[in-house]
Amino acid sequence: ISILPTDYTIRPLRRSDYKRGYLDVLRVLTTVGEISEEAWDQRYDWIASRNDEYYMLVVCDGQDNIVGTGSLIVERKFIHSLGMVGHIEDIAVEKNQQGKKLGLRIIQALDFVAEKVGCYKSILDCSEANEGFYVKCGFKRAGLEMAHYY
Ligand code: ACO
Repeated sequence: ISILPTDYTIRPLRRSDYKRGYLDVLRVLTTVGEISEEAWDQRYDWIASRNDEYYMLVVCDGQDNIVGTGSLIVERKFIHSLGMVGHIEDIAVEKNQQGKKLGLRIIQALDFVAEKVGCYKSILDCSEANEGFYVKCGFKRAGLEMAHYY
């Protein structure tokens, strides 16, 4: 198990994290857009009401700034005897904080939750450039991603 640097913490996302730079951390991953605090609150409340389905974690530095994040969405199936699958999404570590094993720690924490709630596997999509990172986290290449954009 990877250990966080001294003073760093990992915890569930909070409503007040809008003010702590959460969306800026996601900007290292992709475009986020301009999101007002009101729109944030609405989406946060929707997600929070599904707290056995959405598990969103953040890593904070010693000054309580958010420097990393990752999410697990638990899908309930009929197949595999009502099996559950974890979907790992939106893993991001602030640029100047990369390489400190924060990403690994986030994946380990999400993996722990997925196993604990009863998922039989967790899956994710990533670019070729990130394959090595996920291999180090214990994942292996499986299948092929397809997308249909609207
Ligand atoms: N390719 C190969 N190995 C890598 C890569 C990579 N792209 N990134 C990290 N590693 C290795 C590290 O060297 C380290 O190896 P070591 O244990 O031998 O020293 C190990 O993987 C763990 O690395 P961390 O320090 O935990 O990685 P970091 O905290 O920098 O986070 C991450 C990695 C999340 C990919 C980060 O670079 C990032 O935020 N990138 C931009 C956003 C992004 O691409 N996110 C992933 C999208 S896919 C998804 O969300 C499902």
